[in-house]
Amino acid sequence: MGTQTRRYDGFDGIKTFEAFDGFAMEARIDAADELRAMRDAVEERIAYWLSEGGARDDLLSAAMRAGALSSGKRMRPLLTMLVARDLGCVSPALVDVACAVELVHAASLILDDMPCMDNAQLRRGQPTVHVQFGEDVAILAAIALLSRAFGILAAAPDIPAAVRGRLVGKLSETIGAQGLVKGQFLDLHGKRATVDDIATTNELKTGVLLGVAVDMAAIIAQADDDVAASLRAFALAAGHAFQLRDDFQDVPGNDSAVTGKDTGKDVGKATLINTVGLDEARRRLAGHLADAERCLGAALGSRQRTRRFVEGLFGGAASSAASAAPSAPAAAAAYAPAPSYAPN
Ligand code: IPE
Ligand code: IPE
Ligand code: MG
Ligand code: MG
Ligand code: MG
Repeated sequence: MGTQTRRYDGFDGIKTFEAFDGFAMEARIDAADELRAMRDAVEERIAYWLSEGGARDDLLSAAMRAGALSSGKRMRPLLTMLVARDLGCVSPALVDVACAVELVHAASLILDDMPCMDNAQLRRGQPTVHVQFGEDVAILAAIALLSRAFGILAAAPDIPAAVRGRLVGKLSETIGAQGLVKGQFLDLHGKRATVDDIATTNELKTGVLLGVAVDMAAIIAQADDDVAASLRAFALAAGHAFQLRDDFQDVPGNDSAVTGKDTGKDVGKATLINTVGLDEARRRLAGHLADAERCLGAALGSRQRTRRFVEGLFGGAASSAASAAPSAPAAAAAYAPAPSYAPN
């Protein structure tokens, strides 16, 4: 047999196989390959944006790269890209918009880990940014990542200026005192929180960033309003599930070599687990996953990219959520593999 070369055509879901006799056939791309290609594209593009200006060797740039390019799951940018692809959109702006969302997430993690916040030492299997670079540099790196995110959106290619303006506005609302910042404030200061208060905190500190990831995909793909609303409801439900699952990973006794971060940081905090107990929290997690699945179905019907990704992330369908909840590495073998943080 002669050799077979394979050409990969970006994100259009098609691979072209050129056999030795010149005959070309198209085949459905393997979903995991597509996901890997999307993740690579996001990471390469972030590396590009963070090396701009030639300031590659200073401590601030190094801290920004450490915060943004260490081995995260890239859940938010992948959601943007997968939802957009499920909506039939192939705009070249997508990867940049996805990068902007990931840079905001990276900045939020740097700040979340600071001594005045969660005082964490380990993130993604590495010392946290302030441990590596000092608190002053960490704060500045977070601010610089946030500003970079807005700059990237403002320059996104191939979309009208008015749409870019909408994206910038959405991101600003998501981060600010009505969004993520408020969520972090409530998380740190909401001592006698009720279950509803905790849900509000979780939605603001975690859900709204997933929300904006899908909102942006819907805006660029020019999705109908009802589709955009279902996508937003999906993302908020997934955000609740995701934060609950994260809280399960924090339970003392879990292995930091698996989770990549300190455990026991939520001790004494108003989390749902601390308020209603493990069993009820597990039940609620399953409920949020079922909601997410229903809303995703309403938005995207039988289109599979986003659905497979979410199932991979949570280690299976909503029905298995209860058993998946306490296990940190559940996603490891799935469609959306979590990075491994085990020491080399
Ligand atoms: C961690 O988010 C912060 C939470 C909202 C719970 P991720 O679990 O997505 O973190 P990385 O990006 O994969 O490290
Ligand atoms: C953080 O929630 C949400 C953010 C906005 C960063 P956590 O404080 O539980 O996130 P981890 O566990 O440190 O990743
Ligand atoms: Mg926190
Ligand atoms: Mg934290
Ligand atoms: Mg946590």
